[in-house]
This record gives sequence, C-alpha cells and structure tokens, in this order.
Amino acid sequence: MCGIFGYIGKRDTALELVIEGLKKLEYRGYDSWGVAAELNGSLFIEKQVGKISEADLSPIKGKNVHMAMGHTRWATHGGVTQINAHPHFSWDKKIAVVHNGIIENYEEVREFVGKEKFVSQTDTEVIAHLIGHFRQTMPFKEAVLAAIHKLKGRYAIVVMNVGEPHLIAARRGSPLILGIGKGETFLASDIPAFLEYTQDVMYLDDNELATVGESVAFFSIETGAPLEKRVVNIDWKAESAEKGEYDHFMLKEIMEQKDSILRAINQNDEEILEIAEAIKKSRGCFFSGCGTAGKVCMAAEYFFSIIANRHVNFAPASEFPIYHHFLRPESLLIVVSQSGETADVLEAMEAAKKKGAKVLSIVNVAGSTIARTSDYSLQIKAGPEKAVASTKAATSQLALLLLIAYAIRGDLQEGRRVLAEAASAVNDMLNPRFLTYVKGVAENIKNHENAYIIGKAENYPMALEAAIKIQEVSYIHAEGFAAGELKHGPIALISKGTPCISLIANDEVKQDIISNTIELKARGAHIIGISPENHEVFDQWIRVPDVGVASPLVNLIPIQLMAYYLGVLRGHNPDMPRNLAKSVTVK
Ligand code: G6P
Repeated sequence: MCGIFGYIGKRDTALELVIEGLKKLEYRGYDSWGVAAELNGSLFIEKQVGKISEADLSPIKGKNVHMAMGHTRWATHGGVTQINAHPHFSWDKKIAVVHNGIIENYEEVREFVGKEKFVSQTDTEVIAHLIGHFRQTMPFKEAVLAAIHKLKGRYAIVVMNVGEPHLIAARRGSPLILGIGKGETFLASDIPAFLEYTQDVMYLDDNELATVGESVAFFSIETGAPLEKRVVNIDWKAESAEKGEYDHFMLKEIMEQKDSILRAINQNDEEILEIAEAIKKSRGCFFSGCGTAGKVCMAAEYFFSIIANRHVNFAPASEFPIYHHFLRPESLLIVVSQSGETADVLEAMEAAKKKGAKVLSIVNVAGSTIARTSDYSLQIKAGPEKAVASTKAATSQLALLLLIAYAIRGDLQEGRRVLAEAASAVNDMLNPRFLTYVKGVAENIKNHENAYIIGKAENYPMALEAAIKIQEVSYIHAEGFAAGELKHGPIALISKGTPCISLIANDEVKQDIISNTIELKARGAHIIGISPENHEVFDQWIRVPDVGVASPLVNLIPIQLMAYYLGVLRGHNPDMPRNLAKSVTVK
C-alpha cells in the first residue's frame, strides 16, 4: 500500500534508479507517482497521475543527481490528483517527504502548523510542514525527531532537506528496508525493488530513524540514542521477482505452484513438531489473517477439525481485537500473511500480546515485521509474489497448515506424503492443455456480470476465496457460499444461465453438495463443476485430481486460472486491479 524508493550513492542516475525501483513497487499502489531530488540548490519535484509504467519520463531526462526519492500511491486521504501525489513539500520548499501509512491526527497538526500553508488534501503534507516548522530552529535530524514525536498513526517516511547531503528515514508500522551496496544505499518498501543491485539489507524497525548518506546510522525515535544494526544477506534471486516469459506476474505465479507447494512442506521436522506441541498445549487457539490469507485460516479450522480433532477459532484480522475478552497468557494466535506487513494483522497481534498470549506467524516475506515480531515464525518459501491477487502464497499456506494438522495428530510423515502427492498433482495439472481448457470455460462466462461459487467443508472457504479472485481480477460480481446455505436466500439470485461454480471433493459431503448443485441447475444455473469426477448436472466439467483432504490445493488452481483469463478477456490488467494494493499497511 504505497511504495517508497530512495537512492543515494556513487551513480549520478539517482532519478532513473528511483523510477525503475518504483516500477517494481507499483503493485503496492498505482494511481499516481512522484519523485524528488535537489537540483542546483533547490527542490526538483515531478508528479503525475497514472501508472509509473505508463508515465511520461521526459521531465526527468538529463537530470543527473546522486540522491533522489520517489513514491507510487494508493490513495487514502485525498483523491487521485497530481497535487495529492507524493512527494509533499514544506511551504518554503526546503523539505520533501514520501510517506506510506496514515497520520491519524493530521487535522490537529494542520491547525498547529497553519492551515494556509496547505496545498493538498492529504494527511502526509502535515509531515513536511511540521518538519519545516522545527527545521527553522533545529538541525535536520532533530527536526525530524521533533516532528514525528507529534504524529499519531502508522508511517514509513523518507525525508529530503535541501542543502543536506543525506536522506532521513523513519518508521512506525509500515515497512522500509535499506539495501546496502558498495558506495550506495537504497531505501525501499520491499526487498525485490533493489534486489538486482544488492542482496545485503538492514531492517529499519518500528520506532527507529536512520540517516542515510555516505554512511548509514540508526537511532531510537523515542530517545534519539544511536542503535547497533546488522547487515543481513537475503537469499533471493532478482529474476524470481521478474515476469520472465509470462505476460503477467499472476500467470507466472500460478505456474510456479508446480514447485512452490513442495517448498512449503519442506520444513524442519523438529520445528513443526515443536509448533504442534505449542498448539496442543494452548488453551484457546485462534487463526487470523486478511483477504486470501484469511480464507486459508478458515480452511485451517476444517483441517484441524478433520485431521487433528482439534478445535480452533478463526476471525478476520480486522475483527480479531474484539476477541481480547477471550485471550489470556495460555492462548495462541496463529497469523497468516503473505507480505508479513498487513496493518490489521499487526493490530491483531498487538491485541494478543497485550493479554500475554503467544503469536505464531506463517509468512512468505522473510524478515517482514510480522515475522520479526512474533514468538515463532514459519516461512512458506513461495518466493516473491507480485501480482495483487494472491495465488501461490495461498496454496503454500494451505499446505503448511495441513502439514501442521497432521503433526498434531502424530502423523507428520503421512501428512508429508499426502501433500507431496497433491504437489505432484498440481504439477501435472499446470500443462498447456489444461490452461487452454480453463480459458475456454472463462470465454463462456466472460460476459456475465454475476457468478456464484459454492463449496462445502474445507471447500467452503475456497468458494469464498474463489469469489475474491474473480472479483478482484475480472470485476465480475462473484460471491461464494456454503452450499447448504443457498436455499436460505442466495438461490433467489439465480436465473437462466447464471454461472455457478461448484467446488467438489471426493469426501463424505460430496452427495450433499451435488444435491445443492442440482437445486441450482433446477433454477436455470449454468453449472461449472470442479471435481475429480464428472456428473450429469455439470454443464462444463473441470477435472481435478482426487487428493483427499488436500482438495482445496487442487480446486484453487482452475479458479485462479479462470479469474486470470476472465480478467484478460475482459480487457483488464490482472496484476494491478483497480482500487486494490498488494500490501495493505493501513487499517
Ligand atoms: C490484500 C491483497 C490480498 C491479500 C491480503 C492480505 O488485500 O490484495 O491478495 O490476501 O491483502 O495480505 P497478506 O500479505 O497479509 O497475506
């Protein structure tokens, strides 16, 4: 949610580097963008509405500087306009700021610095004026510290001050990472943005500030005292964050499930058993996550019940804090997050920690805030996921949670066998013939404005996930239901030809969901069955392998492909759905 990129160092192409970095961060927000640098002793700022990948870069050409910063925006406060795009600057044009997060007390600060100074409708502009205010009487770093002491909310900021040879970065609640190269330093909202230049990173943690110039120094925001920091080497390849031969990241990431599921279950046995033990010992085990990760958590409720005979509770992270009444030191909160930076998840963790409960996180991004601030953390090892719609992360999260459920039952090796079989089934499915077939199904329904998906047991959360996938990529109004709930309302929405997708597994509830599918058909629905076996009720059948309780892993594959093709066929860019962002770092 908003991307920040900064550069300072030996190259004089800082503005171009920032533009390239922002393009890699575009998935975090793409309604407008802007860059700032110091040119001949004054502030140069270029801002444009629209995607940076489609921008007119002529104003940047030939401007050779060694220090620059930029921002790609996902609007929160203030509409999508050129003025509201970042960087924002102080009234005297000496201070420029890029910001990811939300300043909650911006109205109060606006009064403090003087309303007449403001040109935009954003919360961010208060930061620039506030720093400008203190800078009149204080050195750069002290002015930034004084300003952020007055701010409430979440932020990652990078600040430039005309005449100063360094940038200042600070964070509370939103990510910002330093990439340490030879004679140059990068600042970015995520690591892949600078991965082609360096794999050495330094994490800026919450309540920390860094001065980034010829050298880098870290300070506590609270006390201003210097902090010791380590350089960490990241084991990621730059090309894994590129599209390669594919038209879109989404398709590339769907195809990567050929091996990402296997990586997810390739975990250290001892660690998994320890986690299984912690879950068994807990009194009150809660799962929480947002969006797709939330649907995975919901599936875990079924996995834990069916496989491990264990009761766990799920609440979406935005709803979780209200459950604090049930939390105590023996409770365990398991959070699932691809990015490891989602604000609602961090708030859920805070609620649990306040009551002394332990937190286990399942994340994709190593070193993310959620990973670093939980008591135990496991990585799904899916590699960078760039498309806004989560695909490979979801199947990896499902696989790891299933494995843990087996470990709780005392059957870790059996779990591994079941999942290895499912992973190999996914590998087989992702062949060109299957892709063409699913594309054909998408062709058939692409002109409909409504679609419904039903599932039962562990495939009920997958029906909800299917709806998210179709909504975000194709903008078709899609909704998922528990198959048995149809007759209590949603069936009224069905008319002749309405596309309905039925997610079926070869399990004890198969006959029930078939009956529900027949009920839909009787009202005129066009039935797409996703199932190991064909049935006469299906108008179209997408065959998936029979992998027992791991069926959500295989049922999601055609759903992801169908959403992708629906998006493409309806003329949308599936990697950057309107109004959405990959990493949601605001509440
Ligand atoms: C956003 C993304 C979703 C994602 C959700 C949770 O809404 O668009 O794809 O599932 O955030 O993100 P997380 O990184 O916590 O899994």
